[in-house]
Amino acid sequence: MSDNGRFIELCALTDISDPGTRGFDLDVGSDRPLRLFVVHKNGEFHAYVNRCPHTGAPLEWTPHQFLDVDNSFIQCAMHGALFRPEDGFCLRGPCVGSSLEPLTLATDEGRIRVALPEGSQLPSN
Ligand code: FES
Repeated sequence: MSDNGRFIELCALTDISDPGTRGFDLDVGSDRPLRLFVVHKNGEFHAYVNRCPHTGAPLEWTPHQFLDVDNSFIQCAMHGALFRPEDGFCLRGPCVGSSLEPLTLATDEGRIRVALPEGSQLPSN
């Protein structure tokens, strides 16, 4: 995927184990950072906004830990909702049938980059 100016680099592909997750708080020019996380499972990378569809709470148990104890599903720390890593769909819990908000990733040249949502600005360096 080519860089069209809307992508921002997050980390190296090797920075996230398989299975594994990593959270990021990005300054996107608004009053709040864009909170997101990347999940790496079965060789695939996916990114979601770090916001549970149940209450809007952040999902992680501890910093960078978004998977359940079996590393099978993304699990919300607040009330235990389970989401499929590959599409963010909620299989069990109070928000069953809803989905995490996906973000577009690019995984080229050994790096992971995320596409910023509409209305956000690239951080100034
Ligand atoms: S806030 Fe995530 S399941 Fe309730």
